[in-house]
Amino acid sequence: RTGTRVERLPLARFTTLGVGGEAEVWFVETAAQLQEAMEAPYRILGGGSNLVIADEGVSERVIRLSGPLAERDLSPDGQLSTDEQIVTGWVGGGVPLPGLIRQLQKLGLSNLEGTVGIPAQVGGAVWMNAGTRYGEMFDGLHTIEIATPGGTRQVSPAELDWGYRDSGIPRNHIVTRVRLKLRPSTPEEVLAKMDFADQARKGQPKMKTPGCAFKNPGGVSAGRLIDEAGLKGTRVGNALIAPEHANFIVNLGGATAADVHALLDVIRSRVPVPLELEYELWP
Ligand code: FAD
Ligand code: EPU
Repeated sequence: RTGTRVERLPLARFTTLGVGGEAEVWFVETAAQLQEAMEAPYRILGGGSNLVIADEGVSERVIRLSGPLAERDLSPDGQLSTDEQIVTGWVGGGVPLPGLIRQLQKLGLSNLEGTVGIPAQVGGAVWMNAGTRYGEMFDGLHTIEIATPGGTRQVSPAELDWGYRDSGIPRNHIVTRVRLKLRPSTPEEVLAKMDFADQARKGQPKMKTPGCAFKNPGGVSAGRLIDEAGLKGTRVGNALIAPEHANFIVNLGGATAADVHALLDVIRSRVPVPLELEYELWP
């Protein structure tokens, strides 16, 4: 009815791990298309950088924010901006975060540079409150627009319950757009902070991966715990616990979701502390 482009596609190509079978992908560009897409069971796919998708794919429709919902307007809003902070126009949930972070650096706008190196989309990164010890998405948000099957609302970050890798936004509520709240700085200062935060990634593997498998329990590195259990280099099929950093599982080429699940089970059975999964498993 609303002319949405819908295609049956392998989801592996939308993920950083490169694993996952087929689903019906809805490329949604407008609020009306989004409401139509949410009329039946759905999942929302961002940058696919935290997902392990089953080899059989998923039966729900998979929504992907496209067109205007993947565009950005970084011009300052004259009414909301002050000398101390710039509030931008709308940035679509489908905008890739790494390009946005580079662009903000060139504009000399600070607050989000701690998220350098996170291969998410803006919507997925906000939903998870992605971050590092140098900063998280929460630090740079002014308004968040959230769509649900019941309608769309705009909230300020203060109305949500934020935590480590958590925005408090319920599952399947869709972050469609955000306005950023940034501190005027200089490109040089932002670059220096970005480079500093990026140093922490030196020890992370460069291969296909969905990032860290487990959350850090109580501030302790899950990677260190998995490493201390002697599991670096453990391989199941074509999935490997990275020799560089034990909280990363990498795809050596042709890995399956089943290989990754088996490695997660090995880790859970060998690490003495209970670990909470950071990845999301589909279905
Ligand atoms: P996806 O993986 O596509 O989806 C993850 C979840 O978000 C799903 O539940 C999905 O439904 C939901 N979602 C996606 N888009 C939306 C939306 N618009 N609205 C509502 N929900 C949505 N994470 C960190 O926090 N810190 C790091 O330092 C970090 N480093 C990483 C390094 C590498 C190399 C990789 C591959 C990953 C890393 N990650 C890191 C993990 C990952 O990037 C984050 O979890 C990120 O928030 C996932 O966002 P995404 O857009 O890729 O979401
Ligand atoms: N360590 C080991 N062995 C390992 C891995 C780490 O001994 O195999 C030790 C390191 O030597 C270091 C400590 O553990 O002393 C911490 O390691 P690191 O600096 O790599 O940080 P991390 O806690 O393992 C966290 C995030 C990363 C984020 C980095 C940098 C989580 C689960 N992980 O890793 O986020 O990029 O800090 O800020 O919070 C992600 O969430 O997907 C992710 C990659």
